[in-house]
Amino acid sequence: MIVSPSLLAANFADLKSDIDMINRSEADWLHFDVMDGVFVPNISFGFPVLKAVSKICKKKLDVHLMIEEPGKFTAQFKELGTYMMTVHYEACPHLHRTIQQIHEAGMKAGVALNPHTPVCLLEDIVRDVDMVLLMTVNPGFGGQKFIEHSIDKVRELRKMIERTGSKALIQVDGGVNGETGKRLAEAGVDVLVAGSYVFGAPDALDRVAELKAM
Ligand code: DX5
Ligand code: ZN
Repeated sequence: MIVSPSLLAANFADLKSDIDMINRSEADWLHFDVMDGVFVPNISFGFPVLKAVSKICKKKLDVHLMIEEPGKFTAQFKELGTYMMTVHYEACPHLHRTIQQIHEAGMKAGVALNPHTPVCLLEDIVRDVDMVLLMTVNPGFGGQKFIEHSIDKVRELRKMIERTGSKALIQVDGGVNGETGKRLAEAGVDVLVAGSYVFGAPDALDRVAELKAM
C-alpha cells in the first residue's frame, strides 16, 4: 500500500517535528491539502507553507487542490517540488486541458471526485490520469466520518480501470483508519491518505506502518 499522511492534521505550531516524524516513518508520500474558501467552506494553507515543507520533507509531495481554477497554478506547484498534482473534477470545466497542463509542467496528474460525483463520469478521462482520488468524506475538514458508499465506488473504479487499460492509481481520502483502511484495501485501493488517524495518535509511526502493511 502507498501511504500518504495528510498534513492538515499536523501540529502547525511545530510543523518541523511532524515532518521529521514523517521522514522517519514508512510513509511514501506527504498529502498536502490546499483549500480556497470557495470550492470548499474552509481555508488551509498555500505556497509559502509548501515552500517551507518542501525544503525539509524527504517524501514525495502529493498535493490535493480543493480550489477553483487549479490549472492557473501548475508552474508554481511544480517549482515547489510537487510530485502529484490532483485537481477536482467539479472544479475543472476543461479537465482534459488541465491534465495536459499538469503533465506538460512535469508532474503526475490526479483527478478527485466528491462523494456525490459518480465514477462513470471518468469514462473519457481515466486513461489520461495517473491517479483518481475518491473523496470518502466531503472535502474541507479533517476528522469526519467515513462515507460507507465509498467502498462500492472503489470497486466500480477498479473495474473501470481494468476494463479500459488505465494505469491510474486509486487513492482514498477522509475517515481512513485501521478498520476502514482494511476494507478499502480489499476493495482495490492503491493509496491511503490519513490525517487524524496518523497525527492524532501518540504512536504515529506504528499507525503509518499499520496502513503500509495493508
Ligand atoms: C479533507 C482533506 C483530507 C483530510 C483527511 O478535505 O482532503 O486530506 O486531511 O482527514 P482525516 O484523515 O482526518 O479524515
Ligand atoms: Zn486531501
